[in-house]
Amino acid sequence: MCFHHNLSEDSATAMTTQVNYLRLMKYPGAKTSIIPDIDDVFKRSGKRSFVDVFGGSGSVSLNMKFGTVIYNDLDPELVNLFRAIQHDSALLVDLLYEALDSYEFRRGRKSTSENKIPRSVATMKPSIPAGRRGKVPDVGAAAQTILRFTMSFGGMGDTYGTKEKAAKGYLKKTISMMQKISEKVSGWTIENLDFRTLINKYDSNGTFFYLDPPYSERNWYGSNFRETDYEDLRDMLKNMKGKYLLTVDAHDDLLEDIFGDPDYIKAYENRNQDPGRGTKPPRTKAFYTNV
Ligand SMILES: C[S@@+](CC[C@H](N)C(=O)[O-])C[C@H]1O[C@@H](n2cnc3c(N)ncnc32)[C@H](O)[C@@H]1O
Repeated sequence: MCFHHNLSEDSATAMTTQVNYLRLMKYPGAKTSIIPDIDDVFKRSGKRSFVDVFGGSGSVSLNMKFGTVIYNDLDPELVNLFRAIQHDSALLVDLLYEALDSYEFRRGRKSTSENKIPRSVATMKPSIPAGRRGKVPDVGAAAQTILRFTMSFGGMGDTYGTKEKAAKGYLKKTISMMQKISEKVSGWTIENLDFRTLINKYDSNGTFFYLDPPYSERNWYGSNFRETDYEDLRDMLKNMKGKYLLTVDAHDDLLEDIFGDPDYIKAYENRNQDPGRGTKPPRTKAFYTNV
């Protein structure tokens, strides 16, 4: 195991390039800060097919500069969001503008019938011929997804606590990026599969898998991981025909028992600082790869 702790260099790179990264919404565990390192391993793998097994908010897939992208997540809400972007990103932008104009972003408010996104916005759907309903994504629900995560503290879905101004600014930037996001997403294959099924489906000599599984002992997602899920993942990595990169929190005893010593560990600046409470310690990520 080797330990890279060149924090100042890593964070300087991340800080300068961060500005141009595409991102859709806040999401717990989004991997924006480590994109240059993922990109580097993908390039070195020599593969062209990038499979984002635990795609989440898409922050990794959105910023891959070459190759074909297969985005996957088990959460149907996220899958609907990316399918809605493929289907009608212009309508999605209209709904976000409407919400921006009419929604009261207030600190500390829970989503109740009084303060949630106005019914006119929340229930607005694209005009879909009756016969095709259910086969096309729900753009209104996709707008709700972006709003819910963007307005929640740290992307934690239901925990409303972000300041109105910051949330509005974040949402405006998402809207301004939507054209580029939509161009990227238009070329994706989007899957809604459990990772075991997905890996079996796409594993080949030409494939690169990026794996960012749910955190152990944190129930942040609709689907979270049990020990047996990590064990299944380890077994699948051992037999994989393609190349992979797995990133997890470093120094996690359970994960080190299952996956062994990482190939390397890197430290990243923790940008979720509490104003007035000093600097948080860096985050360390463990990298496992066959590249
Ligand atoms: C750490 S997050 C990924 C974050 C993502 N890299 C990003 O930048 O936003 C893990 C994701 O795995 C998804 N997930 C949970 N169980 C899964 C499973 N069995 N198969 C596929 N995806 C799963 C969760 O819905 C969650 O979005």
